[in-house]
Amino acid sequence: MSSWKSSADLAILNARILVDQKILDGGIAIKNGKIMAVGRQESLPKASETIDAENGIVIPGLIDIHTHLRDLKLDYKEDFYSGTCAALAGGFTTVFDMPNTLPTTNNSMRLREKIETAKSKIVANVGFYSCFPRDENEVIRIANEGAVGFKVFLNHSNLELNVEDNALIPMLNKAREAKKIVAVHAEDRFIIEEATKKSKNAGNDSYDAFFTVHPARAEIKAVKKMISLSRATRIHIHFCHVTTLKALSLITEAKAEGLKITCEVTPHHMLLTRNNPNGLNGTLITDPPLRSRMITMSFRHALGEEGIDVVASDHAPHSINEKSAKSIWNVSPGIPGLETTLPLLLTMVKRGRLSLSRLVELLAKKPAEIFGLDGKGAIKKGFDADLTIIDFREAHISSSAFHSKAKYSPFDGWKVDGKAVKTFVGGRLVMDEGEILAKPGSGHVLHL
Ligand code: DOR
Ligand code: ZN
Ligand code: ZN
Repeated sequence: MSSWKSSADLAILNARILVDQKILDGGIAIKNGKIMAVGRQESLPKASETIDAENGIVIPGLIDIHTHLRDLKLDYKEDFYSGTCAALAGGFTTVFDMPNTLPTTNNSMRLREKIETAKSKIVANVGFYSCFPRDENEVIRIANEGAVGFKVFLNHSNLELNVEDNALIPMLNKAREAKKIVAVHAEDRFIIEEATKKSKNAGNDSYDAFFTVHPARAEIKAVKKMISLSRATRIHIHFCHVTTLKALSLITEAKAEGLKITCEVTPHHMLLTRNNPNGLNGTLITDPPLRSRMITMSFRHALGEEGIDVVASDHAPHSINEKSAKSIWNVSPGIPGLETTLPLLLTMVKRGRLSLSRLVELLAKKPAEIFGLDGKGAIKKGFDADLTIIDFREAHISSSAFHSKAKYSPFDGWKVDGKAVKTFVGGRLVMDEGEILAKPGSGHVLHL
């Protein structure tokens, strides 16, 4: 039995391993990129190489279903290498890239070209969303190209990112036939456009104007619309970055009705408010906008319950110039989140506000289940050896040390109580104490 065939390639030893919501002391044996055994150290097969976890806690590699990796003509903001390095540094082993790039990913050829560009640069597992194409017959070709799902930006009238209202139902039907999820940025563009016109005409270009033109009712209206379309088409709708309690309760009711609906929240919508003391700061501008303290507190409270399915980073990097424009209308909305999400959530765990197993559910287990990522999202024999070792150590968020090109953060200087110290993708140690060990192109494209 102790032939070379049964021996492991790698064993992670002296670990505390999160298995089925419990911490188990022992190690993990890995072979051919998969978990071969999990258990007490004496019970593990021999391995050609060992890594000492130094009593760190091993959790499943995190999965971010909402990342803007940019690249292509927006590679000055982020590229596939820098973005996936940021993912590994933040403990994420898999990310789903958003299609609002330049050019927009909205047909099978563009998706194929994007994947070709990504292949030689990525250091993590990456899946790609597409926007809906002009021609509904193209939906199936995009699906066959391996898109993880479709994305609709209801907040934009730009028809590269969105489709005419009367085209939405046929597109949703095609997506359902192709067994794809449709992720939605739910904000009503007509409300935003009308309010923006009003504010601009009144000469208002202050920080506050941004919040005026993205009212809560824009989100609630769009969520209602998509729920009724889900009822009509039976498509699985995933609501990105929910920011209002009303939207969350509508989503909860729709689930109870039996509709296929899931939702995510971001760390920034749970931890920052529009009235943050360092106020007039473009790094706080994100869409949907930050809300009130009452809402952030309610969302933090709701995180422990069933209603919220996933925490996603909505990593949305821009150049520092784009974030620091004088007029609010020239500030690019978005917050880089890959390198802050895990530390911020571990801090909630350390303070007793969230259990570690719920954190793992929100950041790995549910994302894998929702998108049907077989072999991901848990530490189990036969699963992919995508693993993250965490440590509850005190640190300060320091955006200048980000691997992302976006070296700023509204969380800069925040004291946090935990971070990822080692990340493994497919059984390879790819990040160690902030250092990226993976070679560009060593990551895999996920085709769903
Ligand atoms: O704040 C945002 N940034 N909201 C979006 O919908 C897009 C995103 C981006 O791509 O920068
Ligand atoms: Zn969005
Ligand atoms: Zn986004």
